[in-house]
Amino acid sequence: MKKFRAPGKLILSGEHAVVYGNPAIAMAIDRFAETAISWQPGSHAIGWQNGSKLSKYALDKTISKLDIDMPCGLEAVIDSNIPRGCGMGSSAAVIVSIMYAISSLAAINLPIEYYAKLGREIENLQHGRSSGLDINVSLRGGCLRFENSKTIERPIPEIPMYVVNTGMPEITTGECVAAAEKYLTSSLLQDFAAVTNEFDQALQENNLVEIQNCIRANHELLTQIGVVPKPVQEFIAELEQAGAAAKICGAGASAGEKAGAVLVVTTDNMDAIAAKRGYSIFKIKGVTHGVQNISG
Ligand code: PMV
Repeated sequence: MKKFRAPGKLILSGEHAVVYGNPAIAMAIDRFAETAISWQPGSHAIGWQNGSKLSKYALDKTISKLDIDMPCGLEAVIDSNIPRGCGMGSSAAVIVSIMYAISSLAAINLPIEYYAKLGREIENLQHGRSSGLDINVSLRGGCLRFENSKTIERPIPEIPMYVVNTGMPEITTGECVAAAEKYLTSSLLQDFAAVTNEFDQALQENNLVEIQNCIRANHELLTQIGVVPKPVQEFIAELEQAGAAAKICGAGASAGEKAGAVLVVTTDNMDAIAAKRGYSIFKIKGVTHGVQNISG
């Protein structure tokens, strides 16, 4: 049996613009997807526990791309504590843990770049047009600046970060990326890139005030491209009035009332503002490691 776990992620700055080659900053978080895979001698089928359409596709695609010889059937067990479809990298973490578990079972060990490319192809089934950011963060861990498929490591930010899950959006990431595209003029893309560059600088200087300013500016831009539903805009406005900075993380939603994860950066307690809307708020920690062998 081989068992691998891969972290989820939060995009701290630059979602949507990253799809068009602009910079983004994302961080692996202490939420994980795990895949255990074992050979099943005497069987020729693939048995699943918690397998989704995407995980089945990820396994089939890895087996065929790596030309894995299948002496018998398999049993695959998926386990995850990353909320699904909420911009926290659940799909990417599942894909990464599956690619590594089946490779390891077949004693195949390829460079990380190979898995980044294959993972992005698999994620495209879901996204349509994945930037590859989620897959890279889940593979490599830590905090990364990502631009045009290239990654640069950054230290894990030492700022007080919280996540509020506003619920699973009614539309998919792919639909949301397509809906936002019409607003993303070259001047708006430049604005996104400028905010992410300032954010990157502020993070390296650990300048909390400037980090919060960048998050507020990023939220304005995300609102302009129509991916922040009205109730979430109102929630973020209230957080801002109380001194926090907040933005959606990930695709957000161009329809419906829920936008998945909202990142909140604050030194104050925002529990009451979240509770008023029935949301829960939890502290989030970055993790330095990416995909790991936990076969024991
Ligand atoms: O909502 P998520 O975690 O799937 O993130 C999507 C981020 C986008 O920039 C909108 C798309 C992408 O592939 O980078």
